Amino acid sequence: MNIAEIQNAKQQFGIIGNDPELLRAIDTAIQVAKTDLSVLVSGESGVGKEFFPQIIHKNSVRKHAKYIAVNCGAIPEGTIDSELFGHVKGAFTGAVNERKGYFSEANGGTIFLDEVAELPMSTQARLLRVLENGEFIRVGSSEVEKTNVRIVCATNVDLPTAISEGRFREDLYYRLNTVPINVPPLRRRGEDVFLLFKKFCLDFAVKYNVPKLQLDESAKAAIMGYSWPGNIRQLKNVAEQLSILELDRSITGDVMSRYLPQKNESNLPMLSGQHSGKGRTFESEREILYNVLFDMRRDITELKQQLESMRAMHAEAQEHTPYYTEAHEVPVVQQHIAPAYDLRPQDVKRYEHLPNAEEYVEEALSLNDVEKKTILMALERNRGKRRNAAKELNISERTLYRKIKEYGIE
Ligand SMILES: Nc1ncnc2c1ncn2[C@@H]1O[C@H](COP(=O)(O)OP(=O)(O)O)[C@@H](O)[C@H]1O
Ligand SMILES: [Mg+2]
Repeated sequence: MNIAEIQNAKQQFGIIGNDPELLRAIDTAIQVAKTDLSVLVSGESGVGKEFFPQIIHKNSVRKHAKYIAVNCGAIPEGTIDSELFGHVKGAFTGAVNERKGYFSEANGGTIFLDEVAELPMSTQARLLRVLENGEFIRVGSSEVEKTNVRIVCATNVDLPTAISEGRFREDLYYRLNTVPINVPPLRRRGEDVFLLFKKFCLDFAVKYNVPKLQLDESAKAAIMGYSWPGNIRQLKNVAEQLSILELDRSITGDVMSRYLPQKNESNLPMLSGQHSGKGRTFESEREILYNVLFDMRRDITELKQQLESMRAMHAEAQEHTPYYTEAHEVPVVQQHIAPAYDLRPQDVKRYEHLPNAEEYVEEALSLNDVEKKTILMALERNRGKRRNAAKELNISERTLYRKIKEYGIE
């Protein structure tokens, strides 16, 4: 094992942990990167499988070429062949133009096929052919094309079982699995659980601008003894929920265990206990409310980010600066993400209490200016009655109070 190389990869991708199995997996990725062998990354959901194809790409001679990540489970069966291999004009209804597939776009680079077990059998056959000799045929074409791509796959499904059930081709499995990388579940990583937790708490304290959480010994014991069925993804969620919801920053084992659903409970920590049959208690109602609050808060944060990026895009378009990625960045092509700022008419009327566009005469108001102005106007309309203004703005009185102080509104 080359410790320096592993350390380097961990730093580059923000991977936390010193568990020997994890380090071995990272080491294998680095070593195999220099070859063109296909790699299959296996592991439960949430263990961090997506780091590995990136480590491989960045440590390979292909690092300056394209890296395309495809989530096979997210593409409808009807279009997956066309997305991966392209199609010719008129290949099917709606194919008004020809289209390059990812395999041709990533020529010279790396393709990451996530959730590879979700591929339909017919697509599996096409994939096998690319793996064997780099050949593929666009949908609706008869012309054989060539591509040179490195393929890394990931799955949380036990492929031998899928093979025995006739859902996965055995020959494809052997071909993909030239080099297996197993990413261990969190419950086998010992002290890493605590390391990861501390790191996430710190991140969320910064993100939400709240004081950092402190775990006492019993809380630490609770997370160390928990089975983490959702692995690091779940741990991150729990850290986020605690950071937002627990006003008392020192966390005890009792508090912690409320966020850790047991086997027979729902996987949604905040809703656990809801179906316990004991009827609705104050406790469970409060948890449901917290859950709603938590979602709202996350939505707001996301909306803010989207607004920011829309503003950035707008500014960029005005400057006519071409968009390019730095050579050291991995150009990830993201698929199937609908433009988030697509407002539907039924959404728009929710903003009926917001001031008209004409009321914003000045151009280039900052987001903060807009917020301050909106609050001022709501207060004016409600003759200074904070309770009513908060209601109209759809925020809590406490948030309104904080904003009033923040903006120094009289
Ligand atoms: N060792 C780790 N250190 C830091 N973050 C991690 C680690 N492993 C996983 N994560 C984070 O956990 C989440 C789930 O990881 P992901 O790669 O999407 O899981 P998988 O693809 O295996 O389901 C991501 O937010 C990822 O950044
Ligand atoms: Mg994944």
